[in-house]
Amino acid sequence: MNLEKAKARIEQLSKELHEHNYNYYIKDKSLIADRAFDELLSELQKLEEEYPSLVMDNSPTKRVGGGVIKSFKTVKHLRPMLSLGNSYSKEDLLDFEQRILKVIEADVTYTAELKYDGVAIALHYKNGELVQALTRGDGTQGDDVTENVKTIKTIPIQLRGDYPQEFEIRGEVFMSKKSFERLNDQKKEAGEPLMANPRNTASGTLKMQDSKVVAARNLDCFLYHLLGNDLPYETHYKNLEVAKEWGFKVPDAAQRFIQRCETIESVFSFVSYWDERRNELPFEVDGVVVKVNDYHQQEELGFTAKSPRWAIAYKFETERVLTRLLSVDYQVGRTGSVTPVANLEPVQLLGTTVKRASLHNEDFIEGFGLHFGDQVYVEKGGEIIPKVVGVNIESRALAAVKIQHVKTCPECDSTLLRNEGEANYYCVNDNCSPQVIGKIQHFIGRKAMDIEGLGDETVAQLYRAGLIKNYADLYALKKEDLLPLDRMAEKSVEKLLEGVEKSLQISFEKVLFALGIRFVGQTVAKKLVRHFKSIEALQKASFEELVEVDEIGDVIAKSVQLFFQNELNQELVNRLKNKGLQFELLLDETGSQESEVLSGKSLVVSGVFSLFSRDELKALIEKHGGKNVSGISKSTSFLVAGDKMGPAKLAKAEKLGVQVISEQEFVKMIS
Ligand code: IVH
Repeated sequence: MNLEKAKARIEQLSKELHEHNYNYYIKDKSLIADRAFDELLSELQKLEEEYPSLVMDNSPTKRVGGGVIKSFKTVKHLRPMLSLGNSYSKEDLLDFEQRILKVIEADVTYTAELKYDGVAIALHYKNGELVQALTRGDGTQGDDVTENVKTIKTIPIQLRGDYPQEFEIRGEVFMSKKSFERLNDQKKEAGEPLMANPRNTASGTLKMQDSKVVAARNLDCFLYHLLGNDLPYETHYKNLEVAKEWGFKVPDAAQRFIQRCETIESVFSFVSYWDERRNELPFEVDGVVVKVNDYHQQEELGFTAKSPRWAIAYKFETERVLTRLLSVDYQVGRTGSVTPVANLEPVQLLGTTVKRASLHNEDFIEGFGLHFGDQVYVEKGGEIIPKVVGVNIESRALAAVKIQHVKTCPECDSTLLRNEGEANYYCVNDNCSPQVIGKIQHFIGRKAMDIEGLGDETVAQLYRAGLIKNYADLYALKKEDLLPLDRMAEKSVEKLLEGVEKSLQISFEKVLFALGIRFVGQTVAKKLVRHFKSIEALQKASFEELVEVDEIGDVIAKSVQLFFQNELNQELVNRLKNKGLQFELLLDETGSQESEVLSGKSLVVSGVFSLFSRDELKALIEKHGGKNVSGISKSTSFLVAGDKMGPAKLAKAEKLGVQVISEQEFVKMIS
């Protein structure tokens, strides 16, 4: 290839790759299979290697990183990066509005947006190319992290559409909760110290020297502020909207990440909407940012020394506090798992006094290198019990003693086991009382046998009184045994016994869940029941038959087998069967059956589809009498193949002679 041809091809490839990147990361739709994308990218990489003089600063190959940055240049910002004033209540927001109305006489429209908890970034674009990315620094000058920023897939390196010739766009680089957890899982496995939270991780990652490592960290970025002399619209909201067309990931109005608000009252509803749901978001937010939408009004309002008068941050109540870790208790769960719980110096957190917090497991304690007396950060997540999320090592006393996870059961003293690859220690003594009580409590729970008139406290009481040693004993309880007990009046005894009797009607999938087989949650129980239809079939199932079931992997399969191989469990199940519990799938539980065209057929669904989601396809398969299986084997009837399916699966299907069909062919088959 001559230089000219190479140049043309490089330009063509870059254009295509940028476009695919935009479709995938900004528009959430993929028009190309992963493999085809990789092929285009590697063709470009090869050409660039061959013709280094043709490598462009805005090449899509920058996404994978490569350059090692020795030190980051400090660069002056084009316009200072100010911070925002804070508000914490409705009153504060009303004051903000009053300050605005003193200056502006016309109607004021606001935007309310999420306040992303990450690292601020300023991106400078010239002629559609990202020329510089700066961190906030001290607000006047920041660090040049351009090479690292180019590895963030949601930040365009080359713009598309009708963009201004030169402008700046600012936003927040962050790490999703999932990527953060994945990173900490990897660190745990490698025995490295854990990261404290996604924000610090994002900030540390942006300043890493090896951009390849940055590329692998999966950072993300929302853009929320445009600055320039020739922006197309006069309002913040409209400019953000059009910036999406240029290739930026801007807050999505459909998901309510941003909202135009005609009144400050509608800002309040945005705030309370997200205050309740912020934990459900896949990334961390710490509040809401309210901005005056109109640029002329923004200009009129101007700035104070520190922040704009036209915008304010509303901070959600902080959920993280610092307190002292006094001691550690170990709780034994129903499965025998032993979990460390911190006893803390009591501290106020969101209106309640917190004295205890989860420490997860030994790796967590080791990861943070926790010592008794350490000052720890405590947070309230979606869970009931708050968790320790970090440690302030600087305040550690010199003589502090390191926390060592217990090696024997705090309840029954037997030696604890920790299986390879698992985080928890287990007490394997079946008679260890918290386990026994926990198993019965799980059995009677609302999502399981839902036994009315019987609560966790009563279960513990019955166990201590020697009336029950396992859940099958519940069905042998008699009125005269119960009446002598504390708090057991005639009425409550009757209610309890009625509740036990009524539980005989509970469906097989709930009964299976109630048995408390490790790793068999509600969803897994449902899948097993739909597949095997009776407890006998499930008990007899071989390992191979179990892993064939959709979404059942080795770990679950092994656990199911272990459960049924245990003689005590066999006896329990037999006793329950004799008492008349449901151990079969009844026909009317299978949901509306639409046809039997797939009866006797097992199908594997893999890849990404355009008409249905994977789960919808699986539901359709069941509705038409077919079975969903996860792995391809000789007995698989069809592989329904979508985009982005791993090549290994396809190869296996071909090797075993399994028929591969497209989504469209599948639809034809069932209609
Ligand atoms: S606008 C001059 N919008 O919060 C106004 N900032 O405390 C520029 N932030 O430094 C900021 N989400 O790092 C704006 N939707 C959002 C934001 C946001 C997070 C951060 C940003 C800023 C800090 C202010």
